[in-house]
Amino acid sequence: MKGLVLSGGRGRRLRPLTYTGAKQLVPVANRPILFYVLENLSEAGIQDVGMIISPETGKEIKSAVGEGKDWGLKVEYILQEEPLGLAHAVKVARPYLGMNPFIMYLGDNLIGSGIAKFRRDFEQSKADASILLKEVDTPANFGIAEVDKQGRVIRLVEKPKTPISNLALVGIYFFSAKIHEAVTKIRPSLRGELEITDAIQWLLDNENKVLSHRLEEWWLDTGKKDDLLTANTAVLDDWTRRKIRGNVDATSQVIGRVDMGKGSHIINSTVRGPVVIGENVHIEGSFIGPFTSIGNGCRIRSAVVEHSVVLENAVIEHIDRLEDSLIGKGSLIVQGNGNHHAYRLTVGDVSVVEL
Ligand code: TTP
Repeated sequence: MKGLVLSGGRGRRLRPLTYTGAKQLVPVANRPILFYVLENLSEAGIQDVGMIISPETGKEIKSAVGEGKDWGLKVEYILQEEPLGLAHAVKVARPYLGMNPFIMYLGDNLIGSGIAKFRRDFEQSKADASILLKEVDTPANFGIAEVDKQGRVIRLVEKPKTPISNLALVGIYFFSAKIHEAVTKIRPSLRGELEITDAIQWLLDNENKVLSHRLEEWWLDTGKKDDLLTANTAVLDDWTRRKIRGNVDATSQVIGRVDMGKGSHIINSTVRGPVVIGENVHIEGSFIGPFTSIGNGCRIRSAVVEHSVVLENAVIEHIDRLEDSLIGKGSLIVQGNGNHHAYRLTVGDVSVVEL
């Protein structure tokens, strides 16, 4: 079984960060989201992965993932000239996929479990599709499934105006080669995309077997800032272990599950886990955490940073309190004299913010 990872798209909802980079490479707990996807595929025994890329961010994805050796994968790249929908990506990938069954995984989706059990079920069932469902609070933002009492899928609707259920389709799908016929039968939706939900609906309408599973663990579609912060919190909470490789001076306290990279220094500060700190980070006279990720090369002085994601080489100085914030790479956040406030910020890469 091959893997098809979707790493194209526009990433409009994660602007301004995605003006300067691929959204699949935005880090959660200091690791790009896409790396968790590849790890999950590899752990489920997938060896060959086709990676959908866009002309805008394809190069960046390629240089981060390479041939996939870090995950024991063989990754090939498939260019999708325009983001015309998830089902369009399947069309573009058809020569790569051939007639093999495959697993399609959206490159910006994170789940709190492995996928090996879902793969096994799909292979044993001889179904033409298998989808994962998860309850959500805002069905109007998702592809939604209506299921009967036995859990069989009856109908799928993309972003329904009037909700048919609260069960959203997680961005992980298993397909037989039958999906290639389905994607040729559907027409673009009102937003001009070939929707995968329409292709699966076609399978249903034509008496093909579509399985569904409820995902018990968390699922995060990291497409928006708040989702990204939630994902960061979930990953830090579940997977951070205490590991101090840098230097902590005698006047500092590092409490709980803190993962700190080499070459980093903590001076006269308190860090309260769960927190991840990258390499060559300088923290001085500050309070960091909980639920915060600090990327490589950041400098934080005289600041309180809580429940935030700070990307590499950002500088934060003299900030009373920064919370629920997302700070882009290489940005400078400083506070002028006499201001004493708490801030919630979303700042793109290489920005300067004087408060
Ligand atoms: P979406 O989040 O549905 O779309 P998007 O990336 O264009 O984001 P936004 O709505 O914020 O503009 O995409 C889900 C994943 O699939 C994401 O990793 C991008 C990828 N994708 C493709 O590779 N090709 C496509 O044609 C589309 C629509 C998405």
